[in-house]
Formats: sequence, C-alpha cells, structure tokens
Amino acid sequence: MDKNAPQAIHLKDYAPPPYLIDTVDLAFDLGEDVTRVQSKLAMRSNPALAPASATGGGPLVLDGQDMRLVSVALDGRALDPSEYSVGPDSLTLPNPPADFILEIVTELRPQENTSLSGLYRTSGNFCTQCEAEGFRKITYFLDRPDVMARYRTTITADAMRYPVMLSNGNLVAASKMEADGRHTVSWEDPFAKPSYLFALVAGVLVHIEDTHVTKSGRTVALRIYVEPGNQDKCDHAMASLKKSMTWDEEVYGLEYDLDIFMIVAVGDFNMGAMENKGLNVFNTKYVLAKPETATDTDFLGVEAVVAHEYFHNWTGNRVTCRDWFQLSLKEGLTVFRDQEFSSDMHSRPVKRIADVQRLRAAQFPEDSGPMAHPIRPDSYIEINNFYTTTVYEKGAEVVRMIHTLLGADGFRKGMDLYFQRHDGQAVTCDDFVAAMADATSVDLGQFRRWYSQAGTPELDVTGAHDAAARTYRLTVRQSCPPTPGQPVKQPFHIPLALGLLDPSGADMPLRLAGEAAPAGTSRVLDVMEAEQVFDFVDVAEAPVPSLLRGFSAPVKLRFPHGVDDLTFLMANDSDAFNRWEAGQTLATRLMLDLVADRAAGRPLELSPGFIAAFGKILKDPTLDPAFAAQALTLPSEGYLGQQMPVIDVDGIHEVRAFCRRAIATALRDDLIATHRALGGNEPFAIDAAAIGRRSLKNLALGYLMALEESGREGTEAVELCVGQFHNAHAMTDVIAALGCLADTDLPQREVALRRFYDLWKDEPLVVDKWFSIQAMSERPGTLEEVKALLGHPAFEIRNPNKVYALIGGFAGGNPVRFHDIGGGGYRFLADQVLTLNALNPQVASRMVKMFARWRKYDPRRQALMRAELERIVQTPGLSRDVFEIASKSLE
Ligand code: PHE
Ligand code: ZN
Repeated sequence: MDKNAPQAIHLKDYAPPPYLIDTVDLAFDLGEDVTRVQSKLAMRSNPALAPASATGGGPLVLDGQDMRLVSVALDGRALDPSEYSVGPDSLTLPNPPADFILEIVTELRPQENTSLSGLYRTSGNFCTQCEAEGFRKITYFLDRPDVMARYRTTITADAMRYPVMLSNGNLVAASKMEADGRHTVSWEDPFAKPSYLFALVAGVLVHIEDTHVTKSGRTVALRIYVEPGNQDKCDHAMASLKKSMTWDEEVYGLEYDLDIFMIVAVGDFNMGAMENKGLNVFNTKYVLAKPETATDTDFLGVEAVVAHEYFHNWTGNRVTCRDWFQLSLKEGLTVFRDQEFSSDMHSRPVKRIADVQRLRAAQFPEDSGPMAHPIRPDSYIEINNFYTTTVYEKGAEVVRMIHTLLGADGFRKGMDLYFQRHDGQAVTCDDFVAAMADATSVDLGQFRRWYSQAGTPELDVTGAHDAAARTYRLTVRQSCPPTPGQPVKQPFHIPLALGLLDPSGADMPLRLAGEAAPAGTSRVLDVMEAEQVFDFVDVAEAPVPSLLRGFSAPVKLRFPHGVDDLTFLMANDSDAFNRWEAGQTLATRLMLDLVADRAAGRPLELSPGFIAAFGKILKDPTLDPAFAAQALTLPSEGYLGQQMPVIDVDGIHEVRAFCRRAIATALRDDLIATHRALGGNEPFAIDAAAIGRRSLKNLALGYLMALEESGREGTEAVELCVGQFHNAHAMTDVIAALGCLADTDLPQREVALRRFYDLWKDEPLVVDKWFSIQAMSERPGTLEEVKALLGHPAFEIRNPNKVYALIGGFAGGNPVRFHDIGGGGYRFLADQVLTLNALNPQVASRMVKMFARWRKYDPRRQALMRAELERIVQTPGLSRDVFEIASKSLE
C-alpha cells in the first residue's frame, strides 16, 4: 500500500499518557470571523509511569488541528517558537518540567467548519461537538479519554447575537452587557472529565424548564433549549427526560449529580445526540416532536435518545473509556439501558422485535462484510468510522447476554461493583466484565471472546425424541464464519434460552438428565463447545422446541422445523418473540422459494395456509395490535437478500410485491374492516396502545394499496388512502398515506406531494420526510427525481439530516432503484460521496458504506460498484474517513 496512505492505530499499542491535566481554564472570545481561545492547563508528569522528577516526563505532544497557534507560555513565560514545534496535527514541547502551567492561545474560523466536529456554526449560533476527537480543533490538548480534568469555561460574545451562552456544569459568573456590546459568562464543572465531553453553545435560543426531585431529595433544574418557534415541540422530550431520571434511580439507584441538566437542539448535527456533561447537544430530530409534525417512530426515537444520553451520565461520563477501542464499554451498555427503559415504558416483546429487526437489518450485514470488527476493535484508521451498529447494537446484545447469565439481581450487583470500583476513572471492557464476574462469581472467562471475535455465530440445532426412553436430545453445533483478520474462531459462550412445547401447545417442565427435578418451563442453556448435546428427560411425546427465546444471543439459528411446526409455534409459543420469529422464518422460506420459482420461470403462488395464518392474526381480537402489525409484516427485501448467496435484487422485489398483493387480495375485507375499526381521528395519545392501533391501521392501508392497480378494488384503496392523507391529524397517518401514494403513478401523487410540501416547508424535519419518501419510491424514475431534488431550494448538502433523507434514503432505503442494473444509482452515490468528502468526511463515510456489500451481488453489479469504489479510492485529497471504508471494501 501507498506509504502516504493513512496509518492504522492498534489497541495493543496503548500506552498511558506521559502527562496529566488537572485543571483546564478556557476563555472563548466568539467573533464573526475569528474566534480566539485561551487555554490554561495545570499539568504534571504522570506519576503512574515514573517517580516524579525535576526533569518531567519527556516530550509533551499535544493534539491540534485546523487552527492557528497564536502563542504558548510555560509557567507565565512566553515561549519563543524555537522552544516548541508545530506539526499539522500536533504541538510538541521537547522537555517540560514535572509540574507546570501551560497557556496556549489559538484562533479558529468556526463559520468555515463544515465537518461539524469541533466548534462550528448552526443557524447563526455557535455549537461544539468534541467526541471523538473534536476538542483538538479548539485548542492543543491531550485529546484522549484517559486524560480527565476539571474545566472552567468563560465565554465572551456579542450580547445581542448570543444572548444565551452555555457550557458544562454550573453557571458561576455572568456580566451585564459592556460598552462594546459584549457580555461574558463563566461555567464550572466540578467533575473531572475527558475532553470529548466538553461542550459550548452560544446564540439566540429559547428554553422550556421543569424540575426533577431526586430520590434523595435534591432539586435539579431541567432545561431544553431550542431555536425560537420550536418551544411547542419540546414537551415530549422533557417528559422523556423526567421518566429517564426516575427509571435510573429505580432500576440502578443512580441519581443525577449536578444542579442543572440542559439539552440544546441544533439543526446541523452528524449523529443523533451527544452526552456532554450537564449539556447534552441533540440533533433536532431527537428533541422536537408534536403529533402534527412527528410520527410515532419519531416520538419513540426522542424518548429513547433522550434516555440514552441521560443514562450516559453514569455509563460514559462518571465512568468513561480508557481509549476509543473501548467505545462499546459506554455505548453497548448505554444502548442496553435505553432498550430496557423503552421496554419498561411500552411493550417488551414489541420493543425486542423492533431491536432484533434493526440488528439483523444493519449489524448482521456489517458483521459478514469487509468492515466486520469485534465490538472492541483491534485497530482503526479513523475512530469516527467505528461508531458502528456493531459497537452499539451488538455491544448492547453482549451486555444483554451478561444480564441473562447473571439474572437481573446479579447484573445489578455487578453494576454496583462497577461504579464502586471505577467512579471517576477511564476504564476498559475487561474492567466491566471483571466487575460483573466478581460481584456474582459467574465465570465469564470464555464469554470474553464476544469482545475480541467478530462475526455472527451460527447455531445448527437438531432434536431427537426417543419415545421408549422418554428423552429428547438437542444437539447444538456452533460455528462462526471468518472475518477480516480472523480466519478461525474459538467457540463462544452462548446463552440459549428455550422451551419445549407439548402437542397441546403448552410448555413442558424442563428437566435435564442428572437433575433431581424440573427447573421451570423456559430456561437458559450454556452453549460453550463447538458441539454439545443436551438431554431432556421425562419427555413423553415429541416436543416442538422453541429455541433462542427472546433472541437470547445475537446468532443465526437453524433448526429443521417443518412448515407445520412453524405454524404451530406461530399460534402457541408462550414466548411472544418466538411467535413472531416463527412467522418470519416461515415467510422467509416461502418467499425464497418463490424467488427461485421466478428465476426458473415457474408461475408464482403463495401458500394458502400461510395466507390463512396471516388472516388469523389479523382477526384475533386478543392480540396486541402493535404485535399483530409486526407479525403481519413480511421480511424486508434487505433481510431476504442476506439469506441468498447472490442477492437477486429484482426477484426479491417482485416476489415481495407479489406476496403483498396475494395477501391483500385474499384478506381484503378483513383489511378494510381493520382499517375502519382502527381509523377515524381518535384523540391523539402517544402510549403503547395508541401507537399499536395506528401501526396496525397503517399496515392494513399498506396492504390495501398493493391492490392499487387492480380495477375497482384498487379505486377503493386509493380513496381510503387519499382520504387519510387529507383528513388525518397525526403525522404518522399522513406519512403512511403519502408513502403509499409516492409508489404510484396516480395523479393524486403529485397533488399530495405538493400539498405536503406547501404545508410544511417551514419545518425542516418534516421536509426531510418529504425528501426521503420521494427517494424511497419504487417508481422507475426515482433516480432522476432524486437528482432533481438535489437542486431543490430546501435541499442543503451541508446539513446531515438532508443528506441522510435524500441520498441515504435512496442508497440505503431503495434497493431496487439503487441497484438498478444500469449502474446510474452507483455513479450517483459515488459522486455525492466525493462532494461530501470535501465538506463533511463523517457524513461522506456513512454514505460510502452503502457500497461495502458489493461482493454479495451478481458479477455485473459487482463490477459496477467496484469501479465506483476504485474511482473514490483514487481521488486525491480523500479524507481518512472515506479512505478507510472504501479501501477496506476493496480488500
Ligand atoms: N456518543 C454519542 C451517543 O451515542 C454519539 C456521538 C458520537 C455523537 C460522536 C457525536 C459524535 O450518544
Ligand atoms: Zn451513546
């Protein structure tokens, strides 16, 4: 490889910092052209490395990028430029003393910062984003999470333009406006923190306010800051925050630790939100919500992300990561915590199904592609590329497995010990696992492989009933495919939750050979070996096994269930997740058979038994509508593609559409009845029951619209849909109808799209929906429309949400059009990646990831995608972010 190519950083090279920083005094002078930052650091050589000596700890290399160094002073003496050296990414002092004060002045141009990392402008306001390595774009610093310091931040700016000026911790001083029209505030954060948790916000903002009284009786002020005009969309975020605070007290005994907790919502943000100490900064998408503008999915997203960032205060901030290889220490754990919170607020099975769908849709492909990495990676070129679904969602699954192995009480003991040992420290994933094991004496030795081995394990299970001996033997084989750099894997410790159903559908008591008595009807087996058998005794009749209940491990499970067994499990399994799973497995099998039929030129027919099972679910009044909606949703095109050695893009698309039409034709009357029963404009509520009713109603609408082109029945469906579009009050219902219309060639399509835009053109988040609905339309002309929309006045390539909606919506949410055999979609995406590369590498890199799975397609598409990746890699001036993804994809 080219020796100028960016170099990888390795976990095995970790070394503690040679110097520590005790306190940081920052003074920001925010200007329209130039912002000046004075930083005063109290530093000393790291006593853990060598006994303190007068000669200090050797060279001090501070990180710094994209700024102008104005001056450096050591213990009050201005240094001559010959006494230090400045590189493109660093400032080096050759031999500082053991204990000293370092003062650095830098100048930045935030208005030119389109990367949205470091200090930047959004809607005329100032805002920072420092995770992972943004602080080094503000001042020279030891920008690594194991350097924890106490911060005091002073901000001076024009009082009219920046009336609100915020930073971490507590407000300790504020001046009136001075003669020059400027004012000053100071904030102090009493908790030592790494630089990635620093935040500053300044501008014209309004806020809503509330309070939370902690269980020990302290009153905490809660504020949500937004741009003027958005105050009416903050109530849900505030309610979610209060619920999160109470939940963390009740479930983990964890209280908030400052007197004020602030959230600021900004329109330009690369990610969802950021847990800066006491001053969370959020993408507006995860704060602003009212029924007229936000869908149910948006409401749930706000609740989950508010909780997630709040939970980071303990899992991430009070106990942080030693280095970025440990990212899953805080992210996996915090995702697990927010998932559990949402489960407690709504329906547990419905939440679990949604989370598993998400894992399978995004993480499983990552884990079997060129970017596969363990939840604790061994190396990276650009850390921003490792905020992945593997680190987050698979990381959460790994924590969930620990929870399963330890039980809720054991897990709580482990968490208590973790905080007792590590409060105020920067630690590793190993430290976390050690606390869990030590608190409970559960052996997690082999379990640790989940942190170091990539890839999705595969479980092949078979069952054998011996009627004479009344035994049932389960044989479990595990394997894990090779991933980059890991050709061979050691067996994982897999918690396999299961039950055995008797012919009546009831769970049997479960007794393993050698046990004195049965232990429950659902239990967790420890699968540790490459091949292992489990013998159940007292099994009179052949059972139907219900395996991997609740999706107890992030694996692919195969068991030779027949169609009848799957139908039986769909109807009888006491585990709701597995009832859903049985339906999905059956649907996947039938649909893949149809894809093969189509390829062989055979006529398509969907099994009447399957349609009948769907009809039973639709008509079952005892089912939770939210669950019914999930059970009646066919596996996605992406999921079906993953099950094929070579993805048949067009075959899958056609078969899925065919199945939807077949179901809609057969169940038309029931679908209309469902839509009618759940329709009408009932008063809006955002509880699980109301959300569930809307999701089933809109599922019915979606099926009915599959009949759009079939004569009179189609006309009726279109009437329902257009009626819902025009009359619904809740955005969930409006968007469901608009999404259906967008796939058609009806004249009502244009009318609806135009009306929607006219109504909502002043609400950027709603305009994002308008972009993504058009980008995801299955119509043949979508690519041309997407290209045209790039020039729409509401589109802004510097705004990540717009990019994710339009470009991401097309490349990631429209398989049949993105993968069009002409290759136009690929060329389009590569062009956008190159444009974004120069503006915002993180966003560019998220887009280039859409090419990563190119090897899964037919030779023609492979060649087309590969050519685009090569064009990208050969472009001069490529960011490390894009280079890493594109080059690893080609390896
Ligand atoms: N730490 C944030 C979260 O998961 C995500 C994030 C990463 C935001 C990097 C910004 C930059 O909550
Ligand atoms: Zn997080």
